[in-house]
Amino acid sequence: MANRSAYILGTGHAYPETVLTNAELEKMVETSDDWITSRTGIKQRRKAAPGEYTSLFAVRAARQAIERAGIDASEIDLLICATVTPDQILPSTGCIIQAELGANNAAAFDLAAACSGFLYGLTLVNQMIKSGQARYALVIGAEVLTQYVDYTDRATCVIFGDGAGAAVLGATDADRGLMASRIRSDGRFTEQLFAPGGGTRMPATAETLASGHHFFKMRGNELFKVAVRSMTEISLEVLEEANCRPEDVKLFIPHQANQRITDAVANKLGVDESRVYSNIAMHGNTSAASIPIALDECVESGRVREGDLVMMSSFGGGVTWGATLMRW
Ligand code: ACO
Repeated sequence: MANRSAYILGTGHAYPETVLTNAELEKMVETSDDWITSRTGIKQRRKAAPGEYTSLFAVRAARQAIERAGIDASEIDLLICATVTPDQILPSTGCIIQAELGANNAAAFDLAAACSGFLYGLTLVNQMIKSGQARYALVIGAEVLTQYVDYTDRATCVIFGDGAGAAVLGATDADRGLMASRIRSDGRFTEQLFAPGGGTRMPATAETLASGHHFFKMRGNELFKVAVRSMTEISLEVLEEANCRPEDVKLFIPHQANQRITDAVANKLGVDESRVYSNIAMHGNTSAASIPIALDECVESGRVREGDLVMMSSFGGGVTWGATLMRW
């Protein structure tokens, strides 16, 4: 029990069929493919069609992860849905997903930590599995961000996309799984990325909707600097805790916020570009879904193999950040 840790048994991901390209955005706001590509690395993002909602993609990703883990949904003790775009206020999207999956023995809930939600989930699950309180856990990151995007605001509408990723975790006493995991937040920066309307503080009215108070507002430039600093620092912390060096990392999956953030963090850490995974060109920033989608793409393409040291780090609204180091 002393050396017990959580490890990933199966992963999955899903996203909407509809593609929104930079060329299409050029017709909607004053922007250009050249600006978006050079400032963010994004070429396209997925966008939920009318009638498509967060749990739809979450369930698809989760089913894939459960099947690949080779367990039955009824064996899951803990189900965490990391999202800032829930299906509805009540019940939690986690409970909606639970019912769809038939994961009837799980405790299900939502976790709101924006882009860091998946790593927050992994960190909590690791402790529950270590303590023996959970045998199998499902962590999902799922978002339909485009519902909260103002397509007249070029500073945000070019960035965000939709999708979901999931991972099933189980216990291991072997020398693998989560080796170190840290999460942090700093609420002094809440107004760097926020949606002021629609909650109890500014309930939704015809006026708040007409004013666009439910849309995301972002001070991207300020967030950029905090993102690079905090992702670098926390990545170094997990490496130190596990007694590893950046050059030991076989695969680095940062939150896909901006290619320039990814490059700056990898550069500061000294992790070679060839070991950094990026899918931002295809998906944009999908918040909590970004890391688990990327992870599953790496699994599917054979980019991650047993024994590899995998580091993931994130940064998001709140602000929140985190890092996880695992032996695959
Ligand atoms: N097309 C053309 N020009 C644009 C666009 C656009 N889409 N967006 C902004 N600009 C203009 C600005 O108006 C500004 O013009 P000005 O100099 O005339 O005033 C100029 O480009 C530079 O603007 P900046 O905001 O300084 O551009 P920057 O290079 O910082 O890129 C971006 C903006 C992409 C948002 C970047 O700051 C970023 O990625 N920030 C981090 C975002 C992030 O990590 N968010 C947290 C995670 S998300 C979550 O938690 C859900």
